[in-house]
Amino acid sequence: MLRTRLVNAMRTSQVARISIRLQSTWANVQMGPPDAILGITESFKKDPFEQKINLGVGAYRDDAGKPYVLNSVREAEKVVLAKNLDKEYAGITGVPDFTGAAAELAYGPGSSPLLEKRVAVTQTISGTGALRIGAEFLAKFYKSKSILLPSPSWANHAAVFRTAGMQPEQYKYYDKENISLDFEGMLADLESAPAGSVVLLHACAHNPTGVDPTQEQWRKISEVVKRKGHFPFFDMAYQGFASGDCDKDAYAVRYFVEQGHQIALCQSFAKNMGLYGERVGLFSLVCASAEERARVDSQLKILIRPMYSNPPIHGARIASTILNTPELKEKWLGEVKSMADRMISMRHLLKQHLEELGSKHDWSHVTSQIGMFCYTGLSGEQVDRLAKEFSVYGTRDGRISISGITSHNVKRLAEAIHEVTK
Ligand code: LMR
Repeated sequence: MLRTRLVNAMRTSQVARISIRLQSTWANVQMGPPDAILGITESFKKDPFEQKINLGVGAYRDDAGKPYVLNSVREAEKVVLAKNLDKEYAGITGVPDFTGAAAELAYGPGSSPLLEKRVAVTQTISGTGALRIGAEFLAKFYKSKSILLPSPSWANHAAVFRTAGMQPEQYKYYDKENISLDFEGMLADLESAPAGSVVLLHACAHNPTGVDPTQEQWRKISEVVKRKGHFPFFDMAYQGFASGDCDKDAYAVRYFVEQGHQIALCQSFAKNMGLYGERVGLFSLVCASAEERARVDSQLKILIRPMYSNPPIHGARIASTILNTPELKEKWLGEVKSMADRMISMRHLLKQHLEELGSKHDWSHVTSQIGMFCYTGLSGEQVDRLAKEFSVYGTRDGRISISGITSHNVKRLAEAIHEVTK
């Protein structure tokens, strides 16, 4: 009797132990959706078809479809290694030789706020990190918590700002009917937004549409932003990729600064230096005086320290070596131009092939849009068919990364697009 009771008690406690183990701490964690852009790379990698084409993520490929490490980057890396530098921490705001040169690349060498030492600058974990630091700074110190994003905008923008405590709203940007900038709609939305709103502007090579305002339109945008007392927040992830010329692509940023706007600016060296995984970026804020800049600097440090303490040094040293060595800088600017040129020639080839196949659609936007992306106008269902039937991967908003097109796969791509748009 006693034995049976003992055995039963042991069994009960065993069952209790097992059920405790089965009730995992993370049992309530729901499966999340894949990332709208990086999730495409995951699907692409799983596809066994040899001639598959990845036009999802915006990462430059050479004409052999291979990731491209710039010669200027290889050379700069050798210079950095030859210096046998230590691996000590950078300061909270990064490698000063890098931050100064990177800011100059954006604002221009003669920029008054730079000369007057009133630009607060910090190195960031690439462009996304810059956006996040900017978003956190606004959430903490700016009077309005809503930020106007263009419709459409980069798929990650809203999440970055929302996570930092800002409220993303939209302003009209793209005119689907006419495959162009909805300039009137944009100005009307900026006019009707509450005074003092934060407005996110893609400085050049708008992602995902490839449609930028003209210089004249930028001047009008600046006028409205100024009159309404809005705060211009620039995202410049593609300097050099729109026109092939880094100065030309910085037009909007420099014009706004000349007009006295105290802009925020996010920069990335992922695309124009191909330093994707090195995570090299910059966040800057134009202040009214050097004294104000010092206060802003101190608060940027307070934001960054509990997030990641200080940024990685290797990529920043490479970028700094390029930007601060005239011969390397010239070589790099040439390479930026050649990447931009290759993408332009792929646009022409794609359009040409679609026309030769007898497509009834007007594909002129393929060549009129600029930068790394083409906003094809394909529906989500057509994009799904491209992946399923042709192993061609793009994002479901119809964006394709032109940099994934090569002279070897462009015909097959055109055939696939033609097939799903018949
Ligand atoms: C893109 O839009 O594809 C790039 O900016 C890469 C990314 O992180 O989304």
